[in-house]
Amino acid sequence: MNLSVIGQGYVGLTVAISAAENGHMVIGLDLNKSLVDDLLNGRSYVPGINEERLLPLIKAGAYFPTTDEKSLQNSEVIVIAVPTPLDLMRNPDLSYLEAATKLIAKNVNRSALVVNESTSYPGTLRNFIKPILDEASNQKFLFAVAPERVDPGNLEWNIKNTPRVISGLNDEATSEAIKFYSTFCSSIYRAPNPEVAEASKLLENTFRQVNIALVNEFSEIANLIGFSASEAVKAASTKPFGFMPFFPSIGVGGHCIPVDPNYLRYAASQFGSITKFIDLANQINLSMANSVALRIQDQFNGELKGISIQLAGIAYKPGVPDLRESPALLLMEELSKLGAKVTWCDPLVSEFNSSKSMPLDPNIDLGLIVTPHENIDFSIWKNAGTRVFDLSPDRKSYGWPKFF
Ligand SMILES: NC(=O)c1ccc[n+]([C@@H]2O[C@H](COP(=O)([O-])OP(=O)(O)OC[C@H]3O[C@@H](n4cnc5c(N)ncnc54)[C@H](O)[C@@H]3O)[C@@H](O)[C@H]2O)c1
Repeated sequence: MNLSVIGQGYVGLTVAISAAENGHMVIGLDLNKSLVDDLLNGRSYVPGINEERLLPLIKAGAYFPTTDEKSLQNSEVIVIAVPTPLDLMRNPDLSYLEAATKLIAKNVNRSALVVNESTSYPGTLRNFIKPILDEASNQKFLFAVAPERVDPGNLEWNIKNTPRVISGLNDEATSEAIKFYSTFCSSIYRAPNPEVAEASKLLENTFRQVNIALVNEFSEIANLIGFSASEAVKAASTKPFGFMPFFPSIGVGGHCIPVDPNYLRYAASQFGSITKFIDLANQINLSMANSVALRIQDQFNGELKGISIQLAGIAYKPGVPDLRESPALLLMEELSKLGAKVTWCDPLVSEFNSSKSMPLDPNIDLGLIVTPHENIDFSIWKNAGTRVFDLSPDRKSYGWPKFF
């Protein structure tokens, strides 16, 4: 099929390349010229998508990254994969989705299937995307949603083996969308309508946000009483049913867990309802950076002034250079406010807010393992006997006991 994917970020590039590798002719449209130039030269920031995968597809004409909106014109399927962030009031910002939809209306001059993969609240396809196209185009479009579940850097679960939830606005759209996704996804779940599919994505991430907040609150109690929260989670995990482990952390980051629940909160607010769990979870997760900074201060006899602290990894999770909503940034801010001299080492981020990544320093007063990317070599701290707190929420040990 002639496929166009609008947005060539984590989600859009992943779907574009998977589709191209499975026989589709794919246009990858993005407004960001330097990103498109990089792709044309085989460079991508998405883990797992590299020169070896990009260049043969580009050479064969199966994948064509471009900034030219006119290239959408012959698309049979158009997938939308643009950001759906929060605005300054932490409400949904659908401006990218609106712009992408208008691009379709302006440029596609045949009947086509439009699939939204961007995360949004239930009703977005029916009440936001469709009306824009109905008003601005004379073409007959079919509409479907297929919320993306990609977890960049996850070696076990990928776009092929992660079941995909799909639904169209009518049976024809659902069938066409299932037919298309079946060419590169091995398991498809047909939701009864788009609202269920859209809501399922929000529920998945709200479930994680709330459970992480619960375990973060638990870690505060553990600290007061004087036991290890992580060890308690590990012990509870031995129950073979009715328990799912989540580990304490300095908060939640990325474009999904801290963001998506707010889309659900907004949807509820449109019907006069408030979301107590979501609001509380937000509040607890956002407060963790401050509470961890204070706990660190306690370890230095209540005084961080002049103490040198280095964070290892500041991206929101290992293996990606993504800083969106990263709680490491909040922690750096809180530690600096308390007077600490804060530096950071992140080989994937390298530069942020005019500060630069520094190599791991064995002579600092305190090292913090925050986002342990695989290519950070902690033996430097180990060999120097540096004082280190391991704040990472994963089960893996880096040679120091978990902070929480
Ligand atoms: N990254 C993930 O792990 C993940 C997982 C599941 C769902 N999602 C959701 O998928 C959507 C996309 O997320 P992402 O992480 O891929 O974002 P991203 O920021 O990595 O990529 C989005 C791309 O869209 C481009 N873009 C923006 N407006 C455009 C327009 N009008 N026309 C063409 N290109 C445009 C941007 O330049 C950018 O390159 C969001 O709704 C997100 O919540 C992301």
